[in-house]
Amino acid sequence: MSALLELDDVTASYGHVQVLYGVSLAVEDGGAVGILGANGAGKTTTLRAISGMVRTGGSITFDGMSLVGLRPDQVARLGIAHVPEGRGTLGHLTVKENLLVGAYQRKNRAEIAQDVERCLDLFPNLADRISASAASLSGGEQQMLAVARGIMARPRLLLLDEASLGLAPSTAANVYGAIGRLRRESSLSMLVVEQNAALAFTLVESATVLETGRSVLSGPKEELMGKDEIRRAYLGS
Ligand SMILES: Nc1ncnc2c1ncn2[C@@H]1O[C@H](COP(=O)(O)OP(=O)(O)OP(=O)(O)O)[C@@H](O)[C@H]1O
Ligand SMILES: [Mg+2]
Repeated sequence: MSALLELDDVTASYGHVQVLYGVSLAVEDGGAVGILGANGAGKTTTLRAISGMVRTGGSITFDGMSLVGLRPDQVARLGIAHVPEGRGTLGHLTVKENLLVGAYQRKNRAEIAQDVERCLDLFPNLADRISASAASLSGGEQQMLAVARGIMARPRLLLLDEASLGLAPSTAANVYGAIGRLRRESSLSMLVVEQNAALAFTLVESATVLETGRSVLSGPKEELMGKDEIRRAYLGS
């Protein structure tokens, strides 16, 4: 397998404030990698760097092509869907309309309709609320909608930012369960930001730990789970 996404010594800044100082990681084609780290470590900024939402240095390649300097819409068109922290669903639109927004770069109506059905099969809660406004959904349902909207683009890589944030444990497990099923049923690659490492490890094979804008540790999940500092900081044991 060759790496689908590769970050090498990536830096990023908001205006004059540098927040990433050297992030390196790789996602194999069909693979799923976690990004762990404390609040403010730079996890969201790493996803924004990939998506072209922040000024970036170093090397970011997707399928052998450099993403540095591309706009978010150009990155999306290459097959990268970003499910942002805070979900970003459009509250005044219905569930169905939000799903169609996810497919805005696609033309084939029959395939789009098929994918709407697939999303509703994956997230049955959304099927019951298909005509409801996104704003009226519960937090868990909004998170499901955010993920579903991302996959409506038929991406090759899904960037997922803290999908468990603010959800009850059973709801978070439900959301991750559906994403796990999506992974098993498709060849979609994933880069998964999570503070809840136990949940992330249900989905990914390996992870990178960020500290103040740097990758400080990466490896297979079994290896990371065996490390005392990881268990204490991220697994609560
Ligand atoms: N729009 C912005 N302008 C200026 N600084 C920012 C902006 N967004 C984030 N930062 C700063 O960049 C650093 C990294 O933030 P980032 O959001 O990437 O962290 P994170 O690891 O995702 O944290 P959290 O777990 O809280 O979501 C922080 O110090 C934060 O204050
Ligand atoms: Mg964040």
